Amino acid sequence: MAEALIYELSVPGRQGLRFPACDTPLADLPQDMLRQELPLPEVSEVDVVRHYTRLSRLNYAIDLGMYPLGSCTMKYNPKINEEVARFNGFAGAHPLQPIETVQGCLALMFTLQEWLKEIGGFAGVTLQPAAGAHGELTGVLMMRAYHQARGDLRRDKILIPDSAHGTNPATSAMTGLRVVEVKSDGRGNIDLEALKAQCDDTLAGIMLTNPNTLGLFEENVQTVVQMVHQAGGLVYGDGANLNALLGIVRPGDLGFDVMHINLHKTFSTPHGGGGPGSGPVGVSAALLDFLPAPLIAIVEPGTPDGDPPLYGFSTPAKSIGRVKSFNGQFGMVVRAFTYILMHGPEGLRAISEYAVLNANYLLSKIKGVYPLPYDRTCMHEFVVEGHLPGSDVHALDIAKRLMDYNFHPPTNYFPLIVREALMIEPTETESKASLDAFADALLKIAEEARSQPELLKSAPHNTPVGRVDEVKAAKELVLCCGIDVPRE
Ligand SMILES: Cc1ncc(COP(=O)(O)O)c(C=O)c1O
Repeated sequence: MAEALIYELSVPGRQGLRFPACDTPLADLPQDMLRQELPLPEVSEVDVVRHYTRLSRLNYAIDLGMYPLGSCTMKYNPKINEEVARFNGFAGAHPLQPIETVQGCLALMFTLQEWLKEIGGFAGVTLQPAAGAHGELTGVLMMRAYHQARGDLRRDKILIPDSAHGTNPATSAMTGLRVVEVKSDGRGNIDLEALKAQCDDTLAGIMLTNPNTLGLFEENVQTVVQMVHQAGGLVYGDGANLNALLGIVRPGDLGFDVMHINLHKTFSTPHGGGGPGSGPVGVSAALLDFLPAPLIAIVEPGTPDGDPPLYGFSTPAKSIGRVKSFNGQFGMVVRAFTYILMHGPEGLRAISEYAVLNANYLLSKIKGVYPLPYDRTCMHEFVVEGHLPGSDVHALDIAKRLMDYNFHPPTNYFPLIVREALMIEPTETESKASLDAFADALLKIAEEARSQPELLKSAPHNTPVGRVDEVKAAKELVLCCGIDVPRE
């Protein structure tokens, strides 16, 4: 399969674009800044539309089908989010405009800060970080600054459970902290004895994901928080799994001191290629002074006569400084705001209830066929083993075969503590019919694993690109669609 590059479709003289009449005074551009040769493709509108439509059909997307990528919360992104983000006043705003001219944008950002405080149970929120991992870095930098401000310079150790996402140790190490792994127990919770052994006066804190990456609620969460606080440490919450808790549990109420919230997971803004991420961070009162600057603030209160407040910026007293240019990913903030406004408090709670219900329904359909390492009621996702009794197929083979059934594969080989892990997160936006179809595909694949294992080992068969050598693909990345990828 080789797709032409748009440049290869070029025919001299073809054109598909008409510029609108110029509505600003014409200005002479300095000649030395102009390129005489600009090798742009000359293509008609239909060439362009067909080219990009063809390319889009080579890919898989949440708008095509179920995308049960555990831990990533690949929920449907409602189109109203896009409509609102394209309003002229939002899409056309420039971050260097005088604040008097962008009061609507600032009011929206301030309101989202307030809503995230309420949803998470936090005293303050920054919208600056550009992803979950960036939120982690911001949060751990604040934890470090907190200890330093108290002169508690011995605290250089951060505890990370062995089930944690790789970004947790990575971001902690970037701040200069010493990462120490803590084992999980037989129920998938943090091993309290292992934790106790690390609670000393060098403890800066712990990073805790709840529900954890096994899709299980940390049963001893309050004991863990208490033990860490008693030792003088702080508790970082990895909020990637907040979609299981909305309106039910507030991490701030559990004693978390700081937590990132992935807007591109819980609050339905697009992931990856669909748009930049956004990872606002909430903090308890203890860390308020350390938040990145600027925060969006009311700089002049409204009047009793009904004049609205004036929104602007504020700088916390011991701020760790700026972590992102301007004010974060504003377009994502607008989408998350729209989503929260559309759902309201009851709707947000229903999101989590359905996310948990869908995951448990799916688990009940495949349990007994796919080994379940921790047999507990799951939260919004669950982890099974892709190592099936009576067959020698691997999790990767099952994941690839699912593509032949038109499903995106689940996350695999993560978390690391489960052998041949398949981590499945259906999200609340899947209907019973699509959950049933996905379960049927998994059950059919389990049968095939015994009767025709080769079918799985050579999968996928129906996709534009067949099985790739994953190590080679990672080392020698081919991002150009014009290059032929041979089918094995
Ligand atoms: C548990 C967990 N923590 C952190 C992250 C990092 O978030 P981001 O991809 O937004 O950087 C992820 C991302 O998938 C995650 O699943």
